[in-house]
Amino acid sequence: MMNKTNNPKIELHLHLEGGAPPSLIQQIAKEKNVDISSIFSEDGNYLFRDFTHFLSVYEAATSVLTSPKDFYRLTKAVLEQSAQNGVTYTETFLSPDFCGSANVIAWRDYLAAIEEAATEAKKDWGITMQGIVTCIRHFGPNKAKRAALCAAETAGDFIRGFGMAGAETVGTQGDYACSFDLAREAGLKLTTHAGEWGGAESVRQAIQDLNVERLGHGVQVIDDPALVEEVIDRGITLEVCPSSNVALSIFPHIKSHPIAALREMGVKVTVSTDDPPFFHTTMCREYELLTDAFNWSDADFKELNKTAINAAFCDDETKVRLLKELDTE
Ligand code: ADE
Ligand code: ZN
Repeated sequence: MMNKTNNPKIELHLHLEGGAPPSLIQQIAKEKNVDISSIFSEDGNYLFRDFTHFLSVYEAATSVLTSPKDFYRLTKAVLEQSAQNGVTYTETFLSPDFCGSANVIAWRDYLAAIEEAATEAKKDWGITMQGIVTCIRHFGPNKAKRAALCAAETAGDFIRGFGMAGAETVGTQGDYACSFDLAREAGLKLTTHAGEWGGAESVRQAIQDLNVERLGHGVQVIDDPALVEEVIDRGITLEVCPSSNVALSIFPHIKSHPIAALREMGVKVTVSTDDPPFFHTTMCREYELLTDAFNWSDADFKELNKTAINAAFCDDETKVRLLKELDTE
């Protein structure tokens, strides 16, 4: 495999807790005298059987993160990993439900700690982070409204978007429309997990009922050619996470992943890691796997990164800087 460390990379889909190195979670669990050993394999990796189990392991790991200081440590660890993989800009999903139970006052404290870590990471490692506040679908529409309120209250230079993660099999996208409306009215950009587990129908709902400009995953849209056309016509960008989809058995291997086919059809695709240590991946590994599977070249990755910058939720000044950096690479 080629070494892809030096390519500058733009990542649009990374869950902050999902980036937690297992060693950090084990260390914090030890400091708090909490036993979560059952979520780890003997070699110290996260252990899960399927998507539902993945979500419960994810939440068990996250349960040891109980203070702003924990989230400061987490953010530093995640951004260090990203920067080591050549990521220069990352949009990270932040969930108020895991930061003081989506209480706005507590959320402000957690967010201040995350932002402090992001500021230091930018200074030390040259990586820019922006936050997308994310509700958790299987926690239900009422909790989603609390997360949306946290998002609206803290929208600004750092919090740029609102999204939804969690089990796509629970309810419909439209059940969450008022949370998305609240976030939109606060000036936030919108994305939702759709077409990961929910099939093409979930993508249709996301477009019609939530009017999002990006889709988390979105890859199942490939089963509905008319909807693929609609995604293209609307200029919707997919946040594609190939290794995540393979690790969770949505596709059997990278060669059968539809990212290249969707790109050839004219869909705007980008590449991200989702929850890198859970899926034994990094941004470098994604680039290497795509190079091997689809023969993508540096020019292809440059185009993907351009697509990502254009779809990013940051301000125009940041986009101009990132585009310039990409061109001088
Ligand atoms: N939360 C973290 N990773 C996720 C995924 N791949 N799908 C839905 N929710 C998630
Ligand atoms: Zn995700």
